[in-house]
Amino acid sequence: MNIAFLLNGESVELAEVSPTETLLDWLRERRGLTGTKEGCNEGDCGACTVMVTDEHGARALNACILFLPQLHGKAVRTVEGLSGPDGTLHPVQQALVDCHGSQCGFCTPGFAVSMATAHLNGDTGHKDALAGNLCRCTGYAPILRAARVAEDQPVPDWISGDQAFRGAEMAASPSPTCHAPTTADDLARLYAEHPQATLAAGATDVGLWVTKQLRDLDTVIFLNRCADLQGIEETDSGYRIGAGVTMDRVRALMKPLCPGYAEMIRRYGSTQVRNAATIGGNIANGSPIGDNPPALIAANATLHLRQGDTRRDLPLEDFFIDYGKQDRAPGEFVEAVTIPKALSSLRVYKLSKRFDQDISAVCGAFNLTVTDGIVTSARIAFGGMAGIPKRATHVETALIGQPWTEDTLDATGPAWAQDFAPMSDMRASADYRLTAARNMLRRYRAEDMGQATNVLEVRP
Ligand SMILES: Cc1cc2nc3c(=O)[nH]c(=O)nc-3n(C[C@H](O)[C@H](O)[C@H](O)COP(=O)(O)OP(=O)(O)OC[C@H]3O[C@@H](n4cnc5c(N)ncnc54)[C@H](O)[C@@H]3O)c2cc1C
Ligand code: FES
Ligand code: FES
Repeated sequence: MNIAFLLNGESVELAEVSPTETLLDWLRERRGLTGTKEGCNEGDCGACTVMVTDEHGARALNACILFLPQLHGKAVRTVEGLSGPDGTLHPVQQALVDCHGSQCGFCTPGFAVSMATAHLNGDTGHKDALAGNLCRCTGYAPILRAARVAEDQPVPDWISGDQAFRGAEMAASPSPTCHAPTTADDLARLYAEHPQATLAAGATDVGLWVTKQLRDLDTVIFLNRCADLQGIEETDSGYRIGAGVTMDRVRALMKPLCPGYAEMIRRYGSTQVRNAATIGGNIANGSPIGDNPPALIAANATLHLRQGDTRRDLPLEDFFIDYGKQDRAPGEFVEAVTIPKALSSLRVYKLSKRFDQDISAVCGAFNLTVTDGIVTSARIAFGGMAGIPKRATHVETALIGQPWTEDTLDATGPAWAQDFAPMSDMRASADYRLTAARNMLRRYRAEDMGQATNVLEVRP
C-alpha cells in the first residue's frame, strides 16, 4: 500500500508498505529516529509513545502496536519533533529538566510525548494521562510535578501546526494484501471478497499477534478510515455506537450517562490504549475478559452485524457462544452496538491486581430495578468468570421477586455455583473469583442503599 503522512512537520510518502510494519520499527530502523524507545513491544510501558493528529485532534498512541497503514493522512510527532527548529525545548521538556524528572532517561521520551499531547489538549488529569507510561528509576512525583509546572505555558506554534494538516481526504493506494476502505459499504464489499482477511481496527489486539506471536497476517483490512463506523447516534431507544468508536470516546459518552461505566473505562488499558482500542474490536475479539461485554450485556445492548448488504441484529449476550466461538459468519463484521438509554441503575466493577492498565480478574456489571423494596428486574453479567462474557441467570432468578435485603443476597449462594465454575489462573483462583463476584453484588446493594463503598486502598 502507498501511504503519505506528516512526520515532525515534514511530508513523508512511502510506497508498498507492509501491512504489519510497526511505526516503532520504521522510525528506529529505517528513519534513524531512535528517540522513540522499545520497552515491552506490547502497549504496556509507553516508552514508544508518539503524538498522532487527525481531524479528531491529537492523541498519544503506542508506536509499537501501530501499523504504518494506520497513519495514512495523519500527522505524527515523535520526541525528536517536540523541541523547536532552533532547539528550544518544549515546555514539558524544560519542566522535566527543571523538576529533575529524568534519571536513566529510557522512559523520558515517552513521558515527554504523553505530556506534550496532554498539554496541547489542555488535559490536566496528569495521573490518568501518564498511567500508561512506566518509569523504573526516577519515581513519579518529579514527573507529575513537571507536568503541573508546564500547564500554564503556551503550546509552541510548531506543535499546534500539526492540527492544520488535513490529510483525511488523501487517497491511499491499496495493494492486494492491504486495504483501507473509507466507508462501511466498501468494507462490506471487500470483506465479502476476502473473508479470510484480518480486520484491524485499533490493532491493540492484532498488533500483539504480530509483535508477540510473530504471526504473518496475509491480507489485512484496516477499518480506521471508515468514518461511518465512528459515529455515535442518539435514537429514541438508545445510543448507537459505531464499531470504530474508540474507548476514549465511549468513556466521554458514558461520563454523564453512566458514571460507573465511565469509571471502569478509566482503568481500561491506558490513555494510549484507549485512544486506539475500539468498542467493536473489544466485542469481536470474543475475549472472556474483555471489559465492555459485561457492561453492555447488563445494559441489554443490541449488536448490529453486517455481511455484504445483509444486516442482522442480535442481543449481545447471544453473540458469545463458547470460548473462542462467536456467532459471526465469514465476511461478517460488527457494524455497531446500541446501548439502551435507561442506564441509571447500571454499575460496573473492574477488579484487577493493579489499579491502572491491568486486565480484569473479574469484571461485574449489575443492572437491577427495585420497586417498593422488591427486586423487579435483574441483569447481571461477568467477565473473567467463564469462557465467555456471561449472564448470572440463576442469580438473577434468585433475586427477582425477593425483598432487596442482605438475607436475599445470602440466599443467592447456591445460584452462583450453578452459573459459574471459574478457572484458576495467575490473575485469581476460582474461589477468589466466586467470592469477589458475590461481594460485587453486595457492593451494588450497599451503593444502592446510599453507603459509600470507595474501595481505593492507596491514596496519594
Ligand atoms: C496494553 C493493553 C491493555 C489492554 N487493556 C485492556 C483492558 O483493560 N480491558 C479490555 O477489555 N481490553 C484491554 N486490552 C485489549 C484490547 O485493547 C481491547 O480488546 C480492544 O478494545 C480491542 O480493540 P481494537 O480496535 O484495538 O481491536 P483490534 O486489535 O483491531 O481487533 C481485535 C479483534 O477484533 C476483530 N475486529 C476488530 N474490529 C472488528 C469489527 N468491526 N468487526 C469484526 N471484527 C473486528 C479483529 O479482526 C481482531 O480479531 C488491552 C490491550 C493492550 C495492548
Ligand atoms: S514499547 Fe512498551 S508500549 Fe510500546
Ligand atoms: S528515568 Fe529511568 S526508567 Fe524512567
